[in-house]
Amino acid sequence: MAAMKSLKTIAAARRWRQGIDTRVVLVPTMGALHHGHEALIRHARKIAGPSGIVVPSIFVNPTQFGPKEDFSAYPRPLAKDLATCRKAGADAVFLPGVAEMYAADASVSVLESSLSTTLCGRSRPGHFGGVCTVVAKLFLAVQPTHAVFGEKDWQQLAIISRMVRDLNFPIVIEPFATVREADGLAASSRNAYLTPAERELAPTIHAAMAESSKLKIPSAIEKSCTAAISKIPGARIDYIEAVDASTLASLPNRKSAGRLAVAVFLGKARLIDNIPLPRIP
Ligand code: PAF
Repeated sequence: MAAMKSLKTIAAARRWRQGIDTRVVLVPTMGALHHGHEALIRHARKIAGPSGIVVPSIFVNPTQFGPKEDFSAYPRPLAKDLATCRKAGADAVFLPGVAEMYAADASVSVLESSLSTTLCGRSRPGHFGGVCTVVAKLFLAVQPTHAVFGEKDWQQLAIISRMVRDLNFPIVIEPFATVREADGLAASSRNAYLTPAERELAPTIHAAMAESSKLKIPSAIEKSCTAAISKIPGARIDYIEAVDASTLASLPNRKSAGRLAVAVFLGKARLIDNIPLPRIP
């Protein structure tokens, strides 16, 4: 098996890409890879097939962090991340630095103006502009045929799919189901911020979501989930909303596919999660 290639510049990625005419499957990440990312890379390996190419990118993107968020403290365990990529079957890794990705006086960005205004977009202004801009740049540097995004960030997945549609990127977006710990907590780099006591409490969020989702009426689901999560000691609810799975607008009934989406602060960690609310014909 050929050694995994490290592509540190856009020019290197473009040169490398020129010689490839099979599937190229990108897995955008910010590093600090856990078993959820590993599953995304393994899924990319399946999509690529034996002759295709799997390329995770590792880039902690400054433009998607708010001024009071954890950009400088965000973990960057590069050697461990590279070992994870190798183990999961990556052929190359795109690892640009900040100066490579952003000119100091950069003044052009990609803004999605509808789906970004709700859920996390409300509490993290500018976040999805940063995500769209960096993902567009990753697409242009690596020129993948396919890109894998986790369903855990449902809003991000919906926004990137919209960006690909609206800007006509010739890329297939491949969603991948949320990877969970054995107790139901969604795998996330931010779980590392939980104290042992908070880690014990954290799965109650998913349990409350699963229990509430058994109800039929979206507003009743929101109410019951809010009541259950409010009882978790130290939990602070950012939002708990039943939304349309594609438009992310508030879900009036179960005639279309929905998602129950939540964001809850537990200590220093802001945990997000979502589960399907299937259409009831
Ligand atoms: O989901 C993430 O880790 C990031 O938002 C992404 C897609 C890698 C863009 O920086």
